[in-house]
Amino acid sequence: MTIRSVVLGCGSYLPQRVVTNAELASRIETSDDWIVQRTGIRERHVAAEGEFTSHLAINAARAALAAADVDPQSIDLIVLGTSTPDNTFPATAVAVQDGLGIHHGAAFDLQAVCSGFVYALATADNFLRSGSFKRALVIGAETFSRILDWNDRTTCVLFGDGAGALVLDAQRQDGTSADRGVLTTHLRSDGRHKAKLYVDGGPSSTQTVGHLRMEGREVFKHAVGMITAVIVDAFEATGLSAETIDWFVPHQANKRIIDASAHKLHIAPEKVVLTVDRHGNTSAASIPLALDVAVKDGRIKKGDVVLLEAMGGGFTWGSALVRW
Ligand code: ACO
Repeated sequence: MTIRSVVLGCGSYLPQRVVTNAELASRIETSDDWIVQRTGIRERHVAAEGEFTSHLAINAARAALAAADVDPQSIDLIVLGTSTPDNTFPATAVAVQDGLGIHHGAAFDLQAVCSGFVYALATADNFLRSGSFKRALVIGAETFSRILDWNDRTTCVLFGDGAGALVLDAQRQDGTSADRGVLTTHLRSDGRHKAKLYVDGGPSSTQTVGHLRMEGREVFKHAVGMITAVIVDAFEATGLSAETIDWFVPHQANKRIIDASAHKLHIAPEKVVLTVDRHGNTSAASIPLALDVAVKDGRIKKGDVVLLEAMGGGFTWGSALVRW
């Protein structure tokens, strides 16, 4: 017998405003063709003035709690993956906790950029399996629109805003890969790459928020190798494989990175859940947003094995296998 973190439900939230490639092309020197060919992105959502990361996160969390059909008061842990907090401190997670009317347990932010959701999932899973907490909200929420340089065409076309959340419940299972719940997580980072994707401001260095800067080609060059290696680690830890997983829900950075990773791992294209065309890269929010799409449209069902992976600034990267 072992304790597993079983998914009780998921939810998501996207700001109302949609910005198409055509709209961007009317403002900066770019084109729908260039963006679609290089990235697969057609449109992204952008938060309204006065709409903060915490607001997106609260909406996603409420949807996840409703889908799970559990009382918010049963939640004793909130881990929020974000790189675009409402304020430098306190953690956006405590605003979410308060917004949900929860005033017990623990809530904190986790910053691993685009890998934030996989890091948050692994952290919550370890707390649940150790017995420290019983029921967790794991959230990825971002307003990257606030840290983009909207005059830099090499970055501003890539990102969007949104939030997604999962409710995890500590439950006794047999301890085999046939269990429901999080079966394995693998986290990696290598700070030698920290200057390839970063924000050029911060409280300690510049006392400003800063803007996202990226060496796109360098990120691309490393992405597929790092992603596929950490997925192989997940397969080896569980005995599962490209053939035995049901769904591949990758971080939605770029369709070319996703396609190349799936191809290298021999994951069938029909198992790949893609939302990058409609959401753009929503950093820590992209995986739970994509999970919610595939649950709602009936693809991901109870008992299915779902492979998650992400890679982002740092570099950080990681993988998880979850039986729904
Ligand atoms: N519209 C039109 N032209 C553009 C644009 C744009 N939005 N952006 C760049 N260009 C131009 C460049 O100026 C360059 O022109 P030049 O040849 O005259 O100098 C040309 O297009 C090619 O630029 P590259 O940067 O070499 O283009 P590349 O094919 O590498 O594509 C991209 C750029 C899409 C950023 C790619 O490198 C990539 O996908 N990298 C991965 C980055 C990523 O996904 N990051 C997300 C965060 S990290 C993560 O989540 C994994």
